[in-house]
Amino acid sequence: MLPVMKIKLDTDSFSIIGESPQIREVFDIVGRAAGSQSTVMIYGESGTGKELIARALHLNSPRKSKPFVAVNCAAIPHDLLESELFGYEKGAFTGAVNARMGRIELANQGTIFFDEIGDMPPALQVKLLRVLAEREIDRIGSVKSTPVDIRVITATHRNLETAIEEGRFREDLYYRLNIIPLTLPPLRDRKTDIPLLVNYFLTQFNNGTGSSKTISDEAINVLVNYSWPGNIRELANFVERMVVLSIGSTITPRDLPDKVLGEVPREKWAPLANDSESEGNPAQILQQSLKQSFHVGIPDEGINLKKLVEGFEKELLIEALEKTGWVKNKAATLLSLNRTTLVEKLKKLKITNPS
Ligand SMILES: Nc1ncnc2c1ncn2[C@@H]1O[C@H](COP(=O)(O)OP(=O)(O)OP(=O)(O)O)[C@@H](O)[C@H]1O
Ligand SMILES: [Mg+2]
Repeated sequence: MLPVMKIKLDTDSFSIIGESPQIREVFDIVGRAAGSQSTVMIYGESGTGKELIARALHLNSPRKSKPFVAVNCAAIPHDLLESELFGYEKGAFTGAVNARMGRIELANQGTIFFDEIGDMPPALQVKLLRVLAEREIDRIGSVKSTPVDIRVITATHRNLETAIEEGRFREDLYYRLNIIPLTLPPLRDRKTDIPLLVNYFLTQFNNGTGSSKTISDEAINVLVNYSWPGNIRELANFVERMVVLSIGSTITPRDLPDKVLGEVPREKWAPLANDSESEGNPAQILQQSLKQSFHVGIPDEGINLKKLVEGFEKELLIEALEKTGWVKNKAATLLSLNRTTLVEKLKKLKITNPS
């Protein structure tokens, strides 16, 4: 298994993992741009780490002890965005019972991060341009301007040049925001980072859940070959799910879903329980062979889940009882159940000793 190499841009808060040439280039630009006042525009698909990099820029800047304020322009309804950003004076509009500071003012002396800047409505683009040029803001309903000292970082997952051509994004604002462009590569273009990230998230989720799961090299290879359309966010969520759901202490290809296994037939990774050459612990092998025998798919007319699961449970209970000569204590141990739970289940499922 590959060692985890952590690249810490700021030791206090988080690690940004990666050693591929593509991510090293990003680290290099972050290192050089962090100390400046220049605007940075971060490009990247969803889940590539845009917000993480924005925070890294802030935490490596002289402003690091001041606020980092993130605003998602796509998540805040357009009619609320102006008051969110600029704040308002008491009585500025119906419902403005008290004056309120906007997020730009809250970021004073620190950094403001406009996520999905391409979604900022045109009227606000003009106002933002003024903030950048004049270094002051006008709260809604205020007669005087308030000076602000902010560093601006933006992010977008789409091509803003198209938005400019279509008249949805102001070209003058674009040039002001795009002084330092920084492109985050999708995970599929930096596959060498996948093993590092998998191990990093594995350690995190193990620590969080008190488990100590590991992952086999074979499983890592499968993950390296998957395309990760949701990038690092998808990978992190996936590892979390594996830590919770995989059976046995080692995650193997047999634990991975078909989507991730891709073209590789599951059987390649699925030695049956009687395959003496097979590796993996018996619970994993059993789970896999059960998966195979029960993989019937759900027909259009649906299934009766309760009935199917009961049938499945009944078969396993009978097998355990037969194996132990119907000695309930032993069968319960085999199934990791209390004796009383086993007895209740036998009663409920009407299982009796035939002899
Ligand atoms: N290089 C990395 N090392 C460790 N964790 C990372 C790395 N890049 C991203 N992450 C983690 O992946 C998740 C997604 O990152 P982030 O939110 O920064 O992506 P994003 O590009 O802003 O996504 P979206 O477009 O969906 O908003 C976060 O949990 C983040 O901590
Ligand atoms: Mg984001």
